[in-house]
Amino acid sequence: MDLFSPDPTWAESRIAELTDKLNAANHAYYVLDNPQMSDYEFDMLLAELTALERDFPAYVSPHSPTQRVGGSPAKGFATVAHTTPMLSLGNTYTKSDLIEFDARVRRGTAEPYTYVCELKYDGVSISLLYENGLLMQAVTRGDGRQGDDVTANIRTIASIPLKLSGNDYPARFEIRGEVIMPHKVFYALNAQREQAGEVPFANPRNAASGSLKLLDPKQTAARKLDCFLYFLLAEEYNGDSHLHCLEKAAGWGFKTGSFYRECANLDEVMAFIDEWDTKRAELPFDIDGIVIKVNQKWLWPVLGQTVKSPRWAIAYKFKAQQVKTRLLDIGYQVGRTGAVTPVAHLEPVALAGTVVKRASLYNADNVEKMDFRKGDTVLVEKGGEIIPKIVGIDLTQREPDGEPYRFATHCPECGAALVRKEGEAGYYCPNDDHCPPQIKGRLEHFISRRAMDINTIGESKVEVLYERGLLKTIADFYALDYQALYGLEGGDQAQNGNRRVVTLRDRSVRNILDGIEASKRKPFETVLFAMGIRYVGEVTAKSIARHFGNIDALKAATVEDLLQVPDVGEIIARSVRDYFSKPEHLEIIARLKAAGLQFETTRVAAVKDGVLSGTVWTVSGVFSRSRDEMKALIESNGGKISSSVSRNTDYLLAGDNMGPEKRKKALALGVEMVDEAAFFEKIAKTTVG
Ligand code: IVH
Repeated sequence: MDLFSPDPTWAESRIAELTDKLNAANHAYYVLDNPQMSDYEFDMLLAELTALERDFPAYVSPHSPTQRVGGSPAKGFATVAHTTPMLSLGNTYTKSDLIEFDARVRRGTAEPYTYVCELKYDGVSISLLYENGLLMQAVTRGDGRQGDDVTANIRTIASIPLKLSGNDYPARFEIRGEVIMPHKVFYALNAQREQAGEVPFANPRNAASGSLKLLDPKQTAARKLDCFLYFLLAEEYNGDSHLHCLEKAAGWGFKTGSFYRECANLDEVMAFIDEWDTKRAELPFDIDGIVIKVNQKWLWPVLGQTVKSPRWAIAYKFKAQQVKTRLLDIGYQVGRTGAVTPVAHLEPVALAGTVVKRASLYNADNVEKMDFRKGDTVLVEKGGEIIPKIVGIDLTQREPDGEPYRFATHCPECGAALVRKEGEAGYYCPNDDHCPPQIKGRLEHFISRRAMDINTIGESKVEVLYERGLLKTIADFYALDYQALYGLEGGDQAQNGNRRVVTLRDRSVRNILDGIEASKRKPFETVLFAMGIRYVGEVTAKSIARHFGNIDALKAATVEDLLQVPDVGEIIARSVRDYFSKPEHLEIIARLKAAGLQFETTRVAAVKDGVLSGTVWTVSGVFSRSRDEMKALIESNGGKISSSVSRNTDYLLAGDNMGPEKRKKALALGVEMVDEAAFFEKIAKTTVG
């Protein structure tokens, strides 16, 4: 080993040390709510780990904090049968029901028992499987008997341990709990969605559920979900108390919350319920009741269960708070993508701590179903949910000859006739090129951080420039000059979040122009994403840019050509085709090209001296990382990829469940098969030198 290369043994132990240290810091932060490390220190250690893992990929552990988000988007979720059905709980709303529940438990056993009261988290239930301390699988409840395998998404939840602490956990067990979205995250997500013209989520539960069903774990990671665990399924612990199981689980690293309490009798249960009926308003997440469980687990089989729910537990549900008010009108919001969302304007009324003036009506189907009349007295509810919803109409108070509301037929912003896509509950304004909120939305999208990142302009200046007629299309950014900008007055976001009026002077104008200039260096894939073609997100833009290589090839592509691109299906292909069939779009592209933007992928210089230089690889099967990542590793070490096994292939990188045809061919042609471990060894050797 030469003196300038790091020692691999050192790298291995340092990677392990950093992995443990960062996992412990995450646990302290996300589970215990008691940070042990500054953000700065965390970021520095994480950067060190990332760099080491890049140089020594063989030592990356699957429970490394860098491996929470891995892999490429899935095509769908596999269905998995639950080993033990995921039951639901009997619901009660009254204390007399609870008295009856307690009497039934008493009839079921002569032994002494206590209760454990817990919060009833309002989210999505999940079952996690651990083997030898490692998270192996996560499955949604589904219909109770089988659910979706959402492991990749669950791994992104920072409070769920990928590797357990201690050493007294069962070798194999399941633990169940609830995935929730905290209020803060929910508000931010909905604000972002509204801004992007997407329909906001009705409540944090729907948002959590939607987030778990995203096909791209990167997107789920951005949703910042949390998870409370409340049910341990492990034979080893069947003779223990439930309380003891919760404490054990917390010791292994699970977030069990500190909200549960053992109650000796029904009076104590009632006191717990009353306490939380008030205190729930202060929680940073939604709960919709209290769960009451018999603490002595050995009594659970004695008490038994009905088809749907156990007899040893029950849920007491809080009543949603409701109030009556008048429906003043129904308005419509048009988002960046043209989605039209109906909004009820209400006579202001106090409800659960806030004054309610508006309620989302979600979509056209819902407006139709509710069959509103102007001036109707409506029942507004704010239960576990933050956004109030209209749950009913008081028909006794309806004016006799009111006209029923019909959903808008035309866009309130530009007058275009609205369209409804087959199978969708909402209407869209199709006038994407000339509808003001859609134009502004596209301009804002173009300069946003993940797109061209022209942060010197910002949304409020886009608004002013649009109003002044200086910005009509994204190409106009590159026509802005000193004279046009100097002296411009407009709103700006002050640090405290309030708007203030600012006048653009020399420094700001130069900053803006510099920002625009810098954007010209953004790669083709970013430009393609920034153009705002419907359904073309960041990942798709990347695939398309890589596939076609330049804008001219893309312009000429047919729907069939587009369907060859990984991640591109019918809808995206059509949308891209439509975009390039409009002359005004071609003109915009011509102007952007003339301004010097990148419309060609720049090939990364081939690695000349990689350990795999001169070798051709075919990749097949499933690996601990995505196939694309494995291919990228081959290429970054100098190897070439071939999609099929042929005489030119040197190696077949063989994962689990490899295609039988490929294996046969490899055997027939004498192509060497290399498994994942051997592959990592091969490339680790080189990097070490
Ligand atoms: S125990 C066999 N505990 O409520 C009993 N469930 O209506 C397993 N839930 O499907 C569930 N908080 O999604 C339990 N502390 C808690 C809970 C809880 C929320 C959900 C769970 C379950 C549903 C039952």
